[in-house]
Amino acid sequence: MPVCSAPGKIILFGEHAVVFGKPALALAIDMRITSSVSMSSDFAVNGHRMNKKYHSYISSALDEAWGGPPISVETSSKIPSGSGLGSSAAVTVSCVGAMLAAKDEFDPEAIARKSFEVEFRVQGAASPTDTSVSSHGRGVIVSPEKMEGFLWTIEKGGRAWHVHDCEVPDLTFVVGYTGVHASTGPLVAKVRRLVESDPDARAAMERIGTIVMEGAEALVAADKARIGRLMDENHQLLNGLGVGLGLLDALVSAAREHSYGAKLTGAGGGGSMIALTDSPDKVAAAIRHAGGTPFELRVGCEGVRVEKEGCPASRPARGGRKDKSVRGRQHGGE
Ligand code: PMV
Repeated sequence: MPVCSAPGKIILFGEHAVVFGKPALALAIDMRITSSVSMSSDFAVNGHRMNKKYHSYISSALDEAWGGPPISVETSSKIPSGSGLGSSAAVTVSCVGAMLAAKDEFDPEAIARKSFEVEFRVQGAASPTDTSVSSHGRGVIVSPEKMEGFLWTIEKGGRAWHVHDCEVPDLTFVVGYTGVHASTGPLVAKVRRLVESDPDARAAMERIGTIVMEGAEALVAADKARIGRLMDENHQLLNGLGVGLGLLDALVSAAREHSYGAKLTGAGGGGSMIALTDSPDKVAAAIRHAGGTPFELRVGCEGVRVEKEGCPASRPARGGRKDKSVRGRQHGGE
């Protein structure tokens, strides 16, 4: 039976605002989750009987993409759960990929669509950003308008997100992981309440939308100074939306000394920050000193793929600590 792997992601610009119809820009990273499926007498995950509560993403992926006899799912992750690096999307995309491959229906667009349905159901609200970039790889721009590089449109609840391919130059990011697990669903709900009641929050959403488009231009031009300035501004706006955290700010400030720019990435409230830099070792040391766990990342990596040999494709981060494999862990998601 097939083995598939899928990458995690960083959101360079536009998290939270994308849930409300603004654009976002996300990059696939060189940390992957590998999943395999095999015939079994009962539905099981990593050797445990399947439990809809503890295996919410995987059991929902089964409903969405399988519909066949009992199977056992095995996952192996290099992405810390709850880190804001897209572990819930990568586990969903790799499982859906393995299930579709088992039916000879492997197709990144179909995987992206089904995986979005899974994330939406489990989290209660989601944009297709994480699941699309994990399926497609490289980089994606999600936007309310169709642009060059169009891949697919995903619709839900009266909203349409157009997903586009984005070429990614050779850039070095260092992640600072706070070690604080934060669930995406409640943070999205918190931002929704703020946006509904506060005109300043709505103005922040608008500005984040324009930052994304300016950031996309800067990315194409590999203009690191401009990307960095926009990251700094995006971080401030996210803090204003109430998804910041003292430790995230401390890591961002520490990293900025040797970076073009830095911001939280993903849902916030914990999770991780990212810094764009030419001095990854210095940034990693500053993050460690400020109380975070650094990982150096390559971006623009391949999307979901069938692994011929069935082993994970991640490699240790240069200059950073190799994150421990969490094989056998139950993925509650982010
Ligand atoms: O922290 P993550 O990987 O769950 O990223 C969430 C990104 C949000 O924009 C906050 C939600 C979404 O579905 O786009």
